[in-house]
Parts: sequence; structure tokens; C-alpha cells
Amino acid sequence: MPSGEAVNNKNVVLLEQSAQLKALMSIIRCKQTKRYDFIFYSDRIIRLLIEEALNHLPMIEKTIVTPTGSEFAGLAFKGKICGVSIMRAGEAMEQALRECCRSARIGKILIQRDEETALPKLFYEKLPLDISSRYCLLLDPMLATGGSAIKAIEVLLNHGVPEDRIIFVNLISCPEVTGAVDEGLDANKYIIPGLGDFGCRYFGTD
Ligand code: URA
Repeated sequence: MPSGEAVNNKNVVLLEQSAQLKALMSIIRCKQTKRYDFIFYSDRIIRLLIEEALNHLPMIEKTIVTPTGSEFAGLAFKGKICGVSIMRAGEAMEQALRECCRSARIGKILIQRDEETALPKLFYEKLPLDISSRYCLLLDPMLATGGSAIKAIEVLLNHGVPEDRIIFVNLISCPEVTGAVDEGLDANKYIIPGLGDFGCRYFGTD
């Protein structure tokens, strides 16, 4: 892998823990960081994550002709891409995907805890009609219990997306493309050290 570092599971790619990434992570983890900085530095890390996720999509060989009339043996993405954000925090990752892939379709899934069963429940989904033929980047910055991610993957599988076309992209914890793997969860199922509630800090509702 060009820049990602495989952790103990071959399906998990951890971003290279460069000094720059550690510095960016330190800013967004700090409880004193103001919202505008939280957004700015989160966006920078998210961009790195999306760029890394795109490295894991299949390519085909493509020869092009340059203005000098020479041929260049290049590459092109093999298939169509689709982002699916798990609302609300995952929506913070949409912009970086749009900046990298102008034509990427974006779907949304809202999953919340069912008050009666305490299990994750699907409340809303809006996905591209041809999603089964796309490579899906599933977007959620924080992976704590994994309940929402599992439910969201279930939704994608039910829509005919093959499992090997789903790349789960997140900022902190233990999914397929992540920025950091943290220690664990506290009694409220928050990631520790973590960064608190990502959605509240990014969208300014705390
Ligand atoms: N979601 C968050 O925003 N933070 C956590 O620590 C866990 C889930």
C-alpha cells in the first residue's frame, strides 16, 4: 500500500502515523480547540483519509496521448464511485469526497438507537439507484460500538452492493480505513481518548 499501513487485520488500513497527522489529530482531540479550528483540521484529516481510500479502488490501464503526440501508459479508475454518509457526522466527510471525485454520487443513511430494543435502527436511507454497480465509500468519522456501521453495511448489502466494494472510512477507531486506532470505550460508549462527540463539535450543537 502506498501510504496506508496495514494493522493486524488485512482489511484494516491505518493512515501513516506521520508527525503531521499526529499534530492534526492533537488539535482536533484537544477539548480547548475552537469550532472553526475543529472543522478546519478535521477537514484536513478527512481529505487525507479520502485520498487513501481512493488508493484502494481498482484501476485499469489507460494509454493516453500527450500534446507532444507521445503515448503515456497511465491508469484510470475501473468503476463508478459512490459516497454513503452515516448521518449526521458522516456528512462532514462528503465535501472531501466531492473535492476528489467531482462526479461521485452521495447517498445518506440515518441510523439511531431504537429506544425499546436499544439496537441500531434504520430511520432513513436515500441511495443512488445504481448503487449495486458502484464502489461505495461508507463515511462515518467515529467508530465506537460498530452498531451503526454494521447496520449501514447491512443496508448496502441489501441493495446488492458486494461486500468487497464497500470501504468504510473513518477518523478514529478500527474500521477499514482509519486515521487512528484508540484505546477503547468509556461507560457511555464514547471512544477514549477520542475527541468527544464529533457531530456536535463539527456542526456546533454542543
Ligand atoms: N461518536 C462520537 O462522536 N464520539 C465517540 O466517541 C463515539 C461515537
